[in-house]
Amino acid sequence: MKVRGLKGLKPLYLTTPIFYVNAKPHVGHLYSMLFADIRARWETLNPKKSVFVTTGTDEHGLKIQNVALKQNIPPKELCDIHSMEFKKLASLSGVDYNRFIRTTDEDHISTVKKLWNFLYEKDLIYKDSHNGWYSVNDEAFVPENQIEEVDGRKISKESKHEVVYQSETNYFFKLSKFQDQLIGYIEKNPDFIIPKNKYDEILKELKSQPLKDLSISRPSSRLNWGIEVPNDSEQRIYVWFDALINYLTVCSPVFGQKISFPDTDIWPPTQVIGKDISRFHCVYWPIILMASGISLPEQIVVHSHWLNDGFKMSKSLGNVVDPVDVIGKYSVDVIRYFLMQNSNLSNDSNYSDYQLVSTANNLTNKFGNLVTRIGSPNFSIEDSVNMFNQGQFTDVDDIIGESNASLLQVRDELLDGLDKLPYSMDKHFKDFEFSKAVSEWFKIIELANQFVTIAEPWKLKEEKDLKFKNYVILVASETVRICTILIEPIMPNVSKRILDRLNVNPENRNVFHVKPFEEINYGEGANEKGAEKPFEKLEKA
Ligand code: ME8
Ligand code: MG
Repeated sequence: MKVRGLKGLKPLYLTTPIFYVNAKPHVGHLYSMLFADIRARWETLNPKKSVFVTTGTDEHGLKIQNVALKQNIPPKELCDIHSMEFKKLASLSGVDYNRFIRTTDEDHISTVKKLWNFLYEKDLIYKDSHNGWYSVNDEAFVPENQIEEVDGRKISKESKHEVVYQSETNYFFKLSKFQDQLIGYIEKNPDFIIPKNKYDEILKELKSQPLKDLSISRPSSRLNWGIEVPNDSEQRIYVWFDALINYLTVCSPVFGQKISFPDTDIWPPTQVIGKDISRFHCVYWPIILMASGISLPEQIVVHSHWLNDGFKMSKSLGNVVDPVDVIGKYSVDVIRYFLMQNSNLSNDSNYSDYQLVSTANNLTNKFGNLVTRIGSPNFSIEDSVNMFNQGQFTDVDDIIGESNASLLQVRDELLDGLDKLPYSMDKHFKDFEFSKAVSEWFKIIELANQFVTIAEPWKLKEEKDLKFKNYVILVASETVRICTILIEPIMPNVSKRILDRLNVNPENRNVFHVKPFEEINYGEGANEKGAEKPFEKLEKA
């Protein structure tokens, strides 16, 4: 259980949901993983920061049990197959994690039981009879007023999944006892849930009606594929109670007699989820923690959904985009960039191949083109950097000004933008507003292209123009160097290729080296003939 980055600091602990293993992963799952990965990579662009990232699979419950039954294989086998696919997806898409947790892992099962016992001893769990409508697909009971009948089938209004009536004896967790405490906490912590519209929605829902206690077990006769309730083999633990605790398992060290509290060097987490599971994470989960005397998450980040032609992509609707397919067609970096550029926290986004291709083309034409231009054998980034370090550009404004005043204007705008870019991107990354960060970044790329286009350095062939030409290349390559460092969290492979090409020392690829013209030393070999175009691999289709 090692953090990445500088030791001895509270790392940024980021979690993704753990995904159901009833089918293979889709783009929505990748999106959540990328949210955590990209935020983490941004954090560690600062070598003084550290991160702890977890993802994994949610393997128990009726839903998995039913699919396994249908496919006539043992549930654990089904879990092994699909869990591996999620793991592969993470590695294929450059998602780095500290732990990939599976709820069938031994340490998780024992954490769940310990927490159960702890709450049971505190009288927060009791047994009672229970009846109601259950949605297997959502693994949740659905209140009577949230049910509608379509074609003679009862379905959940919210998820549109079928519900079945269940009447049985369950264990309950005293959720209702903590309702006011949770409302108070959320009101005092306006950033506890982002974005704001989700915060408002949760708070409004919490205030509008009394919470009912939560059923947290099922009879073993119905649900066999689940963790056994301690001291009651007739009951299995409800899959959501089991699943939420994964966030504790991954950072709980050794367990003592009672529940072991999470490693305070890591806890509390910043948690990325999709809006479909906000009630579980913004209501049930904080209350489970409150009841256990554990501090609440730093923040719950609720992202919106990817739609396919206006419909939610979901396994049950059969309209999912296979991330492994698209990664095969385009490069990983394009997918990462596309998903981040074309989405935001608060609104759903529509997936389309057309949009993907146009995003890829735009990147190649603007960013790729800029890199290709400055890397041309007609120029020398190395000479440009050397001339700068020898102080040869002090009178460059006079030289440019004589012939081209508008170039100076664009240059000023560009350098001013470049100065501010790390700060604006930092804010947007910390707010998980990745598309805003990308858009600030792209503006600078466009300005740099404009600068080079006006300057036309390829026309500066005479000896007397050498200084002008090299200065133009320097400004453009400083832009490329800095922008490439800053986009690394989103496009790690392309970034590495470009920075390698520019010959930027790996130790200087971080936030302490994103100011233009500050202690620069790179460029050797960058203009060699036949160098690999960093973007050739960008768009394969
Ligand atoms: O709910 N767009 O697992 P799950 C964006 N096991 N993100 C999407 C998406 C879409 N169309 N579809 C899914 C579960 N996601 C539980 C979670 S956590 C303790 C247990 C992402 O396989 C999004 O993060 O149904 C969503 O919340 C999650 O996948 C649901 O995955
Ligand atoms: Mg789901």
